[in-house]
Amino acid sequence: MSSPPDGAQRYFERIPEKWDVLYSDENPVRYAINRLFRKGLFERYRLTFEHCGDIAGASVLDIGCGTGRYSLEFAKRGASRVVGIDFAPSMVEFSRRISHELGLADRCEFVCGDFLTHPFGESFDIVSALGLFDYVADPAPLFAKMADLTNKRFLASFPRKTGLWDLQRTIRYRWIKKCPIYNYTREQLEERFRDAPFPAFRIIQLSRGFFGIGIKETEAFL
Ligand SMILES: C[S@@+](CC[C@H](N)C(=O)[O-])C[C@H]1O[C@@H](n2cnc3c(N)ncnc32)[C@H](O)[C@@H]1O
Repeated sequence: MSSPPDGAQRYFERIPEKWDVLYSDENPVRYAINRLFRKGLFERYRLTFEHCGDIAGASVLDIGCGTGRYSLEFAKRGASRVVGIDFAPSMVEFSRRISHELGLADRCEFVCGDFLTHPFGESFDIVSALGLFDYVADPAPLFAKMADLTNKRFLASFPRKTGLWDLQRTIRYRWIKKCPIYNYTREQLEERFRDAPFPAFRIIQLSRGFFGIGIKETEAFL
């Protein structure tokens, strides 16, 4: 990448282990606390695998793959090819290592790069962007590229404008972690899905965010 790293890239580069532990149930007390205070993380994980359609034999693109939790789960569930992309090198290294440890490396490719500028040269049955839009100042070009790369379904999560909750989160990230974050309204998301374009879409409200499903395939599923 030629441009200097942005705040999100610098922030995520420092925290692969800290991020991955959010999903771990090795310490039951910590896991219970995460399930309570990081509700959105677990909601979006459940909804992704509920709404992604048939995974067996599918090709998957996982944008902002982080430590690969989604990519590896897609591979475990029978995807034939999974590409995870992240612009933080340490996240990509973490994902690659775990894919080897789990014996899934033959079906998973982890790419270090910025989604917007990376040339993919192929499209994918399922495209996911979980926990990514929190860090995106201008979502329109990403939506357009995501729609272009999707053959069947697109799944994404978005933080919601909620007042006090997002205010404290914005302060924590922007001023303490030096990582700007952004929130969305349902109306903004509807416009983005329509303009991308996704011929059909559904937006589900979560406790503190939204989960969006875009559809390119012709069969009705919503
Ligand atoms: C909150 S983490 C989510 C990781 C994973 N999807 C999950 O839910 O566990 C967001 C990730 O998106 C990556 N990211 C943000 N913007 C990106 C971009 N434009 N291109 C590639 N990766 C990006 C960050 O480096 C970070 O690892």
